[in-house]
Amino acid sequence: MAAYSDRLALVTGATSGIGEATVQKLVDGGARVIATGRRQERLNALKDRLGEVVETAVLDMTDTAAVKAFADGLGETPDILVNNAGLALGVQGADEASLDDWDRMIDTNIRGLVHLTRALLPRMKPLDRADVINISSVAGSYPYPGGNAYGGTKAFVTQFSLNLRADLLGSKVRVTSVEPGLTETEFSEVRLHGDKSSAAKIYDGTDNLTAQDIARVIGDILALPPHVNINRVEIMPVCQAFSPFAIHRS
Ligand SMILES: NC(=O)c1ccc[n+]([C@@H]2O[C@H](COP(=O)([O-])OP(=O)(O)OC[C@H]3O[C@@H](n4cnc5c(N)ncnc54)[C@H](OP(=O)(O)O)[C@@H]3O)[C@@H](O)[C@H]2O)c1
Repeated sequence: MAAYSDRLALVTGATSGIGEATVQKLVDGGARVIATGRRQERLNALKDRLGEVVETAVLDMTDTAAVKAFADGLGETPDILVNNAGLALGVQGADEASLDDWDRMIDTNIRGLVHLTRALLPRMKPLDRADVINISSVAGSYPYPGGNAYGGTKAFVTQFSLNLRADLLGSKVRVTSVEPGLTETEFSEVRLHGDKSSAAKIYDGTDNLTAQDIARVIGDILALPPHVNINRVEIMPVCQAFSPFAIHRS
């Protein structure tokens, strides 16, 4: 039997990068998938490529009323929820960063994720098997200049994931915080407000992670025996490591 053949997954942010690769991974393993994102044409292309096993829905995670209506309207309860939709915006320091950018990161990475999770958990909790995979980031653990609000949102995602585990004790729902490092997707282009050439330079000369690497880790977590919960997994490419502390000298 294929690894996920009896499962229905909901993957947010499925129009690109890690979300799209995760949909592919789950479909390859036999799952049915509900794929969401804002870009209808990307969702259509995904469905054309993967066929009947994929259902799509346009969903803006910052629209909390739409998130609730979408979750409440699902005829069948997904037993895998991959909270992947998210973004970083801007690289300026905290004294110069755009408050609009900060608000959008908070509304997408935090507010959208918690509203969708809260809407679905009452239906997932009684299931015999269920998984919540939250896509956090190494930015939630390690500060860096310009990481400010983005890192804060991802620290929230990690801690929220661990707190879900506390609340769901006694149920069959597993929860994992997946925390990638440098992964080549549209992430940097979005962060740099569409500046493709600066975004490409971030990956220049690196043997970075790919979206497929992260999807593979997600697939492996899901394929573990049901009594095994991976609380957190932090993934970096070998070409990435930690900086020393910065010290300003006058
Ligand atoms: N790439 C990295 O280095 C890296 C590292 C650590 C963590 N992450 C995290 O991984 C997740 C996926 O990012 P990625 O690297 O795959 O970047 P990506 O290629 O830019 O994909 C981001 C996805 O999020 C969706 N999204 C953004 N805002 C949304 C909104 N308001 N409503 C609904 N969907 C929205 C996008 O879809 P639409 O634009 O169609 O809505 C897209 O499908 C994010 O949570 C990101 O923070 C990435």
